[in-house]
Amino acid sequence: MSSVVVRHSLGSYPVYVEPGILGRLGELVGEHLPGRRVAMIADEAVHQLYRAGRLGGSRWDGETLTFPPGERSKTRESWSRLTDELLRLGFGRDSGIVALGGGVAGDLAGFVAATYMRGVPYVQVPTTLLAMLDASVGGKTGVDTAEGKNLIGAFHPPVAVVADPLALATLPDREYRAGLAEAVKHGLIADREYFEWMEREAERMIARDAAALGHLVRRSVEIKAEVVSEDEREGGRRAILNAGHTVAHALERATEYRVPHGEAVGLGLVAEAALATALGLATPEAGARVVALLERLGLPTRVREPVAPDRLLAAMGRDKKNRGRAIRFALPRGVGAMGPGPDWTTEAGEPAIRAALRVIS
Ligand SMILES: NC(=O)c1ccc[n+]([C@@H]2O[C@H](COP(=O)([O-])OP(=O)(O)OC[C@H]3O[C@@H](n4cnc5c(N)ncnc54)[C@H](O)[C@@H]3O)[C@@H](O)[C@H]2O)c1
Ligand SMILES: [Zn+2]
Repeated sequence: MSSVVVRHSLGSYPVYVEPGILGRLGELVGEHLPGRRVAMIADEAVHQLYRAGRLGGSRWDGETLTFPPGERSKTRESWSRLTDELLRLGFGRDSGIVALGGGVAGDLAGFVAATYMRGVPYVQVPTTLLAMLDASVGGKTGVDTAEGKNLIGAFHPPVAVVADPLALATLPDREYRAGLAEAVKHGLIADREYFEWMEREAERMIARDAAALGHLVRRSVEIKAEVVSEDEREGGRRAILNAGHTVAHALERATEYRVPHGEAVGLGLVAEAALATALGLATPEAGARVVALLERLGLPTRVREPVAPDRLLAAMGRDKKNRGRAIRFALPRGVGAMGPGPDWTTEAGEPAIRAALRVIS
């Protein structure tokens, strides 16, 4: 079975990308969580599909804890309810966790695993495109607070990631397309050839063509794996993965998460490419190609509901990447190239940021 290997300070883990692999989940969990008492923590809606056999493969017959779908479940309240439930069920230090669902399940169940009994191992089973090609790789876990996204969390790499592209068949179109925005980001930040492949294959990507989907998930996982293996704790180059995300997190927060993460990332890429151009870092070509590709992939390049720039700027002030009060961005120099190093982020002033936000409003 082929896999992409992700390295981190304590070892490494495989990311299996294979159609039908969910049918072997029990076997893989046994292999990667040997001798452990395993609990599945799942997005309730995904769990129903899974139980009905709609995601393919066999069914999980171990203990299962669920939470209501959506970003609103990524909270300390969910974390305390889930950990209390595990305690009540008598799960000990020899536990293991299986996280089933999209990026919310991965971040929330991963944070439970990171903190339960000071940390127990977990296997990620991403079921959205966004989680398969981005969120499940890299070991970042956490929850949101009223102050912003992902502000409470921990680095806790999984012991394995099991990604089955066949499980995406039930994913609503809007969620599927949202995941494509992270793939566009991967091409933009690290791989011009991959970006050009997307420009050629946009139609097959939208149609969820099996071969296109396989390449998409695998290439994105390889890029993310390469970046996070080099810089696990974001001291340097890992910051490039934040491309589009300074604006994206602000959009999510300012709209109370009505804009899904992936859509916000697409909009963020457009605004931040415009910012890079205004700052003289990139030529207008990169931004124009990002806009054209997102449009062909059916992703918005302008916000669907008006959002006051003041609210976005205020939300950006809370971004974790900021040192002191300055607002910093991970900006492209061109398609496939980020910069400049060594810290990979660039400071921008308020007038330039306001001008960039006008491009997406
Ligand atoms: N840890 C990281 O490195 C990282 C990276 C990127 C994003 N994220 C986080 O990921 C989250 C977004 O993830 P997401 O977009 O997957 O959201 P999500 O987990 O909320 O899933 C989106 C929706 O799809 C449904 N769904 C999931 N799989 C399905 C399937 N196979 N069929 C039908 N419906 C299905 C879910 O019930 C949910 O309603 C955000 O919180 C973001 O911050 C984390
Ligand atoms: Zn993201």
